[in-house]
Amino acid sequence: MLHLLNHPMIKSKLTIMRKVETGTKDFRQNLDEIASLMAYEITKDLPTRDVNIVTPMGECVGQELDCRVVLVPILRAGLGMVNGIQQLIPTAKVGHIGLYRNEETLEPVEYYAKFPKHMDESIVLVLDPMLATGGSAKAAIDIVKKAGAKQIKLVNLVGVQEGIDVVEKAHPDVDIYLAAKDERLNEIGYIVPGLGDAGDRIFGTK
Ligand code: PRP
Ligand code: URA
Repeated sequence: MLHLLNHPMIKSKLTIMRKVETGTKDFRQNLDEIASLMAYEITKDLPTRDVNIVTPMGECVGQELDCRVVLVPILRAGLGMVNGIQQLIPTAKVGHIGLYRNEETLEPVEYYAKFPKHMDESIVLVLDPMLATGGSAKAAIDIVKKAGAKQIKLVNLVGVQEGIDVVEKAHPDVDIYLAAKDERLNEIGYIVPGLGDAGDRIFGTK
């Protein structure tokens, strides 16, 4: 299922990221903040368990998270979303998937994968700002499933219908979270209006 997070704070921060004149520092900072805001919404169905605690005023029953959470950024651009989500879920473990798009075929090429233990018992959040053709997201979900993951959420900032369709067809069990659904892909597979090459803008490599 697709969840479009239409919060005014997310929209205004995304607008800053979209602007061509926004530099690396502000791009990264706004991505970090949006990731935190998205995490608040994405985690609203996480299970909790009751715990007996004592406040300065007496005993009461509180709640603590009753699940493991694993963040899996797709390198490189997904790395820019890790810190913001970890601020909300400091106990989250982090796995990594290295993928890049072949610039001619737009097919994803895997170059790295490493995961923490207990993937099968964890809620796995696959992170990437961009959902373009959907090839990278589909491949990343294939990889985390092969590593045992059963409860997976895909967290993107900007996506297009084409990418959403690819992921929903291949992985109907995975919820997709987007901050914005954009118009289209251009002839070289970039999202329009989008925000350009997310990896390059985060790391200042262009
Ligand atoms: C970008 C982006 C996604 C992918 C999306 O990564 O961060 O991973 O493209 O495109 P798709 O939906 O068509 O697969 P890129 O391949 O540019 O690698 P990078 O993050 O290392 O720059
Ligand atoms: N990857 C990006 O970084 N940007 C796009 O618009 C598409 C894929």
